[in-house]
Amino acid sequence: MIGGFIFMVKDKVIIITGAASGIGKETALKLTEGGAKLVLSDINEDALKTVLKDVEKLGGDAVIKKTDVAKKEEIQELIDFAVEKFNTLHGMFNNAGIGAMTPFLELGEEEYNQMVQINQNSVFYGMQYAGKKMIELGIKNGVIVNTASIYGFVGAAGSSHYNMAKAAVVSLTKSGAQALTPQGIRVVGVAPGFTKTAILEAAPDEMLEALKDAHMRGHLLEADEIAYVVRFLFSDESRAINGSTVLCDDGFLAFK
Ligand SMILES: NC(=O)c1ccc[n+]([C@@H]2O[C@H](COP(=O)([O-])OP(=O)(O)OC[C@H]3O[C@@H](n4cnc5c(N)ncnc54)[C@H](O)[C@@H]3O)[C@@H](O)[C@H]2O)c1
Repeated sequence: MIGGFIFMVKDKVIIITGAASGIGKETALKLTEGGAKLVLSDINEDALKTVLKDVEKLGGDAVIKKTDVAKKEEIQELIDFAVEKFNTLHGMFNNAGIGAMTPFLELGEEEYNQMVQINQNSVFYGMQYAGKKMIELGIKNGVIVNTASIYGFVGAAGSSHYNMAKAAVVSLTKSGAQALTPQGIRVVGVAPGFTKTAILEAAPDEMLEALKDAHMRGHLLEADEIAYVVRFLFSDESRAINGSTVLCDDGFLAFK
């Protein structure tokens, strides 16, 4: 098929966490266009229902499950639910996350622990539980994608706990790949630059304005630009990428 698009995610069953908004939502739409079957999860069930309608408008096959990724038993329930619905599982997108804008010296224990729970531990349990399930099912071309961040590669005094958790995601992606690849499961990461989603709503306008110039094209990224890369990472066409985290940052880190 010269000049056409080969949908290498067709019929793959993929779970997305944080699917109600931003990068997770756009990835749901792009994977649907590619023919994947989706289990959409988020803590925000109302917004999840709207995304489901958008997926169905595209002719997609998806189900939703309210999940708080801070609770590891809910991650297990989500994975069991996916297999109950579709009888198999090929992919897990550990994407749900929260942002942070608290200066280092003011960061308290509660906020610190919440960050670790949501942005870091959920990725570990998502990888471990989905990995175990895919092994049990005998899946030989499984893929786990974790959402890291450019902030996983640098520090920031105003979001130290966020950066720490994202650095952990980069590290877990490497270890997860080493642990799961012998069983047929690839583990990769995606590291977005600043992307126009709800997570940036708390950031002051002046800060966002200044951040535009840190990206080579002079503007913030769009969520669908990240989603295209995630879809590629779930496809067999990206099988040479394993254990690494792909920067989608329009050059942000290239000239830091
Ligand atoms: N937008 C950016 O600039 C940017 C940059 C780098 C990395 N990221 C990462 O991308 C991922 C997606 O964020 P986004 O930019 O699409 O933001 P977003 O706020 O639009 O989406 C995040 C989603 O995660 C959900 N969520 C939050 N806590 C949850 C929990 N405990 N359990 C389940 N769901 C929960 C939210 O309800 C929301 O739907 C996050 O991991 C974020 O850290 C975003």
